[in-house]
Amino acid sequence: MAEFDFTATLQAINDQVPPALQHPRVGIICGSGLSGLATSLRDTVFVSYDSIPGFAKSTVAGHKSSLAFGLMGTGDGVPVVAMLGRFHPYEGHKLSSVVYPVRVMAKMGVKDIFITNAAGALNPSLAVGTIVVVQDHIALPNLTGMNPLLGPQTDPSHPRFLPLSDSYSRRLRKLVFHAAHSLSLPRDALAEGTYAWVSGPTYETPAEGRLLRAAGADVVGMSTVPEVLAAREEGMDVLVLSLVTNAVVIPGGYKSVREEVEAEIAGKPIVGVVDETISHEEVLAVGSLKGDVMKSLVEKVADLLHPV
Ligand code: ADE
Repeated sequence: MAEFDFTATLQAINDQVPPALQHPRVGIICGSGLSGLATSLRDTVFVSYDSIPGFAKSTVAGHKSSLAFGLMGTGDGVPVVAMLGRFHPYEGHKLSSVVYPVRVMAKMGVKDIFITNAAGALNPSLAVGTIVVVQDHIALPNLTGMNPLLGPQTDPSHPRFLPLSDSYSRRLRKLVFHAAHSLSLPRDALAEGTYAWVSGPTYETPAEGRLLRAAGADVVGMSTVPEVLAAREEGMDVLVLSLVTNAVVIPGGYKSVREEVEAEIAGKPIVGVVDETISHEEVLAVGSLKGDVMKSLVEKVADLLHPV
């Protein structure tokens, strides 16, 4: 952690943010295509990552690279800091850099962190556009030595062995369903599920998708879990919302080539051949199409946190 100097980081931020916004209560991390969440803020002040010592550079298309400070919700509003663009291990960032902004949020006073992401559906009942309220995760990288909490502790008061059985705040998850009710969202706009973290940058093979599904995951993505671990270590309550941008496990699976050839030879119609690939452009397109639902939901949750 010696490479990170919280004092210098906070000084650079506070030099650019008015005192009334320097102690946000809520932190938000905007996933791919979801940076539009920043338009929910009032009195917004942007602080570019380039100007913050210790912050890495986000290199992913569709990710902006700044913190947005502002007020969210009705009445006086809740002071919020939003990350427009996050850091991923697949960009070459160290896990300690990926989670540093979360630790900085904790130092600024953030109590509740809302983490959004774009994810692929492993559960065939999840349609593209569904928002999944994450209730648990499976992180193969964490189980095999890629864990942001490995190594010397950043703060001796943190638990060395962090329990993760209650990582996804029940209070915040319930607020999302109350918010959806107030917004009259259709029941199938939201689902609950388990998020599988993979390192990326490759998307899963069909067999890997089936493996994760068999292990109990509903959605899969390349982010979020490192930030969840750091947030929990820092004592924050965590809400994760995954926007389903594509299907990973295709119902019916893929057709045997032998059967396809046999059908060709017999002059029979070929049915059930699935020929789909996923692209980052598709992920961004669904993000911009459904980003508004995510935005109203997050705004409403902020309102419910802070009744007028
Ligand atoms: N993000 C969006 N879709 C994804 C997928 N299928 N796998 C991993 N990350 C994703």
